[in-house]
Amino acid sequence: MEGTNQAPRPRVVAVDTTDPDSRAIAEAARCILGGGLVAFATETVYGLGALASDADAVARIYRAKGRPAHNPLIAHVADAAAARALAAHWSEGAEALARAFWPGPLTLVVERAPGAVVHGHAGLSTVAVRVPAAPIALALLRAVGAPVVAPSANPSGRLSPTRAEHVVRGLGERVDLVLDGGPCAVGIESSVVDLSGRTPRLLRHGTLDVAALRAVAPELEASGRAPLPGEARGSPGLDPSHYAPRAVLEVLPRAQIAARIRDFPGPHGRIVRESIAGTTGHERVLGDRPEVWAQRLYDELHSLDALGVERVWVETPPADPAWWGVADRLRRAAAPRP
Ligand code: TXA
Ligand code: MG
Repeated sequence: MEGTNQAPRPRVVAVDTTDPDSRAIAEAARCILGGGLVAFATETVYGLGALASDADAVARIYRAKGRPAHNPLIAHVADAAAARALAAHWSEGAEALARAFWPGPLTLVVERAPGAVVHGHAGLSTVAVRVPAAPIALALLRAVGAPVVAPSANPSGRLSPTRAEHVVRGLGERVDLVLDGGPCAVGIESSVVDLSGRTPRLLRHGTLDVAALRAVAPELEASGRAPLPGEARGSPGLDPSHYAPRAVLEVLPRAQIAARIRDFPGPHGRIVRESIAGTTGHERVLGDRPEVWAQRLYDELHSLDALGVERVWVETPPADPAWWGVADRLRRAAAPRP
């Protein structure tokens, strides 16, 4: 039975991830076409979707998230042809990346077609496009039949959601409907490649292997570290402090975590590759595989926040490029907050 003093909740509909129920998808599509906001599972994180051509609905996304107006949104479409229709020019490079990685956790930034009505571009001449792989997201996009802009479904600057309950906790009734597809398989946001310049540039690391991207886009500029404050800004949304839990987060080598455990008197948690002997605190052991860390990271941070810890210590990830996506999110989660 529902208590009377609970915070208002959006409608949450559970959907089978591999074989999404067509009635639930149709309801969500109607909601979006009617100007509503629908949070839906993608393979990366949950998105907060609105009809890209509906200026009022897109403005509601910005209000719901408290998102700065200078931060543009990704237009999600059902196939590469629909992405091409939003682009002023679809290069061979774009086609090759689309063929290799779509549907999947890759976003491409291209010059926007003059006639394309996609709001949420923040005044830029470009548009970011993605064809997600999750069957729920694809079914929804097909049912809507038009581009859906969707940022991650979290308050701006906070942890991205990888479960429906994270969306409900973060945004509550600011969302009209949540399509609950369970935990996201990839767990961190898509890799963003900017194709609008002379050479392709990796603006945001995801889980796609840089070598695999370079096999298709040999000139791709990418480094293990995205820009920090004061450096050239690659993407309007890549704020140094982002993806932050409520707790203060530090990224540290194991030995230093052990010292923190001894010295810190308050409630605390740690996320490590192997267990650290020590009786106090909440410990989450994620092992040695970067894809497991990506899949679990936000979920563990959400759950440590829900336990009310004041500090979270995370073991420094290996320097190997396979860890760049996880390392990037951790660096931002640990950055000083404005
Ligand atoms: O995996 C994802 O990409 C998820 C799911 C829902 O698809 N979406 C997501 O959206 O992470 P959001 O809004 O949280 O992050 C989008 C990123 C931001 O850093 C934004 O600044 C950048 O993409 N972006 C969007 N449009 C851009 C553009 N035209 N030029 C450069 N960067 C852009
Ligand atoms: Mg986001």
